[in-house]
Amino acid sequence: MKRAILAALGLATGLAVPASAEDIKVGLMLPYSGVYAALGNDIEAGFNLGLEHFGAETGATFEIIKEDTEVKPPVALGKAKKLILQDEVDVMAGIVSSGVLAAVRDMVHGAGVPLIVANAGNDEATGEQCSPFITRMSFSNGQVNRPMGKWMYDQGIRKVFTLAPDYAAGRQMIDAFAATFTAAGGEIVGQEFTPFQKTQDFGPYLAQAKASGAEAVFVFYAGGEAISFVKQYDSFGLKAELPLYGSGFLTSSLYVEAEGPAAEGVITALHYVPTLDNAANVAFSEAFKAKTGRVPSEYAVQGYDTARALIEATKTGAADRASLANALRAVSFEGPRGKLAIDPATNNVVQPIYVYETVAGEAGLTQKVLGALPAEADPVNGCEMPAITN
Ligand code: PHB
Repeated sequence: MKRAILAALGLATGLAVPASAEDIKVGLMLPYSGVYAALGNDIEAGFNLGLEHFGAETGATFEIIKEDTEVKPPVALGKAKKLILQDEVDVMAGIVSSGVLAAVRDMVHGAGVPLIVANAGNDEATGEQCSPFITRMSFSNGQVNRPMGKWMYDQGIRKVFTLAPDYAAGRQMIDAFAATFTAAGGEIVGQEFTPFQKTQDFGPYLAQAKASGAEAVFVFYAGGEAISFVKQYDSFGLKAELPLYGSGFLTSSLYVEAEGPAAEGVITALHYVPTLDNAANVAFSEAFKAKTGRVPSEYAVQGYDTARALIEATKTGAADRASLANALRAVSFEGPRGKLAIDPATNNVVQPIYVYETVAGEAGLTQKVLGALPAEADPVNGCEMPAITN
């Protein structure tokens, strides 16, 4: 266990400690550079805390090998190959970008290495491209955005302009929102996808939104792009005229303070907000704050629950790749987000979704929950889950 804690602190990585039957090698693939670098760091902080909190429940020890995906699919595929073939990891965890998840999917599935997805919401990874080796503890892009279509329509909004980065996650998040908004009777009056990781000036897109006749704007942006977008939206003078909505990553507690007053009044939906009032969340938040000095974000909780899922799986005695993959699919527990379970039809997590408004609180910006939408399993989206054969 001492070694697990050292590994969790990043101290034992790469140390030549003799392997025992209970040593589990974990390849942690996260962005430590690029627009999602802060997300990667927060997932890792949550993951380490999860190992620390739950590690003693298993006899296994965990050796962590970290790789920077750089938010670049081809780079990430090279790193996945290295972890699987050279380091011979027992299990992989992490992945923030839907594009990176799509790039590594065939490698992971073909090699039969269990992967616990700690962020990337790519719908296909738990749909058409599902695999018994891929279990997602974070969310799917459809899951967090679908509820907002009906919710906004019910608020009386009829015409919406959408914006998102031009890659798999941006397209899937907007498609999910647009499907339920138009099914309710709303109209998408304009849509733009901005070059991913390259757009610095959102001005031309904001001018289009303003001229579109929309009553509101719905977007997905995360990390560095979310900070730039929210600030520019406000300084463009649009907020009062065209209320801003989106998926909750837009105003994540990880960087909402960097957005400042520009984020006030923005309404979004997400599977976790740090203000959730349940015992597991209070304990987690306090421990996370004590460790990092920060309020935990959805990214931190995803890392925390990823570590917990790994530990739950090893508690069944699973140590090889196939049995770990099977045990991960059966994981369920009550954590900071509430009750979590994996849907065996797709291997995606099933969880409630919260609509929240970013408001000024006593100690800076905070999240006011406006509604909780019950947990609902995703449609199978073409997933025909094969059984694992060893
Ligand atoms: C994704 O690419 O799937 C993604 C990235 C960042 C987020 C959410 C989803 O905050």
